[in-house]
Amino acid sequence: MSDHNDLNRRGFIGAALGTAAGLGAAGLAATAQAAAPAGQPGNGHTDLSQPPAAGGPPPPGAPGSGGQFSPIRAEVTVRDCEVEGKLPKDLDGGFFATGPDPMYPRLPNNIMFDGEGHVRQFRIKNGRVDYMTRYAKGERYLAQDKAGRSLYPMYRNPLMDDPSVRGKSRATGNTHVINHKGLILALKEDTPPIALDLNTMETVDPIYTFGGQLPSTQPFTAHPKTDSRTGNLLAFGYEAEGFGSDVVSFFEIDKSTSKKLWETKIKVPYVGMIHDYGITDKYVMVFCVPLTIDHEQMKRGGIHWSWDRTQKTYFGVFRRGGDGKDLRWFEGPTRSGTHTMGVFEDGNKLYFDTEITAGNPFPFMPNRDGAPPDFKGAESYLHRISVDLSGKGKVYNIEKLFPMSMPLPRQDDRYNTVPYRYGYGACPDPSVDRRVAGACYARLDLQTKSYKLWNAGTKVSLAEPVFAPKNAKSREGEGYLMGIAYHLDQNLRSDLVILDAEHVEDGPIATVRLPVQASPQVHGLWVRGDLYPKG
Ligand SMILES: [Fe+2]
Repeated sequence: MSDHNDLNRRGFIGAALGTAAGLGAAGLAATAQAAAPAGQPGNGHTDLSQPPAAGGPPPPGAPGSGGQFSPIRAEVTVRDCEVEGKLPKDLDGGFFATGPDPMYPRLPNNIMFDGEGHVRQFRIKNGRVDYMTRYAKGERYLAQDKAGRSLYPMYRNPLMDDPSVRGKSRATGNTHVINHKGLILALKEDTPPIALDLNTMETVDPIYTFGGQLPSTQPFTAHPKTDSRTGNLLAFGYEAEGFGSDVVSFFEIDKSTSKKLWETKIKVPYVGMIHDYGITDKYVMVFCVPLTIDHEQMKRGGIHWSWDRTQKTYFGVFRRGGDGKDLRWFEGPTRSGTHTMGVFEDGNKLYFDTEITAGNPFPFMPNRDGAPPDFKGAESYLHRISVDLSGKGKVYNIEKLFPMSMPLPRQDDRYNTVPYRYGYGACPDPSVDRRVAGACYARLDLQTKSYKLWNAGTKVSLAEPVFAPKNAKSREGEGYLMGIAYHLDQNLRSDLVILDAEHVEDGPIATVRLPVQASPQVHGLWVRGDLYPKG
């Protein structure tokens, strides 16, 4: 039997207690491929790109220095949470998020992106906050729950799956959530969504296919967009024609009827992680980066990807609503770009704002040439990629936008497909020495190239924030910025901090104090109260 069969509940509890007791110290100097990889619970280093200082973790309080990916496993309900400050009277809705929270311990060479999706909600209404978390219970969760052990022991490597789960969905819903027709769809880019009831957060459909319009094996991006004009759902899936395929499928779903309005497919220069994309009124933009499929590594029992520094990047553009045959590729140097902040078009010119790393963005993922982890190369900075479709150029332009590292940039989501001005994210203060920089939430002004920061200090780790408009008609940026602060000196006990998004420098106007550690988070979502199902 393989090692993963030994990963029983007792072992898990031992590992969890070790983390809580500060096993991190033993893992501080671990390399990304050693027993306690950077970014995994237990070594105190959970950020995707922050370089450890002198081989150790990021300094206390730097974004990602702990918390965001630490497992908790407990499904929690806290009614009428303690609140410091004053909750805005006009704040009505839910702050949702999901993250990987493994039911059973990961193998040593597995990565922190693996684990069953644990979804949480802060429901804010009438000056009160209720907190609730539930697992996204897809077929993977249910099979493991029944078996009492891990059946999917390696990140996106079906070769390692237990024979008993062949043909079952590998969906975890551990990366992002969206609201569609009164449901929360928990997303992981290699599988269809898992649907949860928005109010109760119980799983209502383990393989959500929009009424059978998408295949039950259709990969569905963790970063779909909402059309800023129509409200329709825009999404894509890569490896769309089976495991390892070079086909990417793009589609548009009507917001009201869930009817599929458009679908087209393109082929990419190589099979790699396409985590996010951009779409405007007229165009679709896709950025191919060389975190590529590694069949040999999977045969050896490893993860799906490795970093291939020999490959260029390719920025692809094609007309929305068409057949994809007008696809144009623009080349660029070896880089990675994982998350899109915003995009827009101006005549024949297209602009794509994304965070860019010089090297492998995830030091805990192997380099194909066997090179050691490059933490400096994993630092992520916001850049603007642009192309002019009126010319015959075959190279994209790129410029750096801001000085701070920010791997998880966000915008006011009402501006997904149109020109926008403001961005948001967690970052270290770029004007302060990294070792004492503290964890900040930032509001970026793309028009003036300026920014405002709230520095939460060196004893918290901040997860990605979300923007909540005051109401559906608020102007861009008028509303609240909210996110989770994991207290590094309180066993990761967590707060939800709520800031005035136009004055983040003033600090939280309200802090919701949880009595426990918040569940793990990759990405979050704000759902306005008027979008909740009635009754
Ligand atoms: Fe993401």
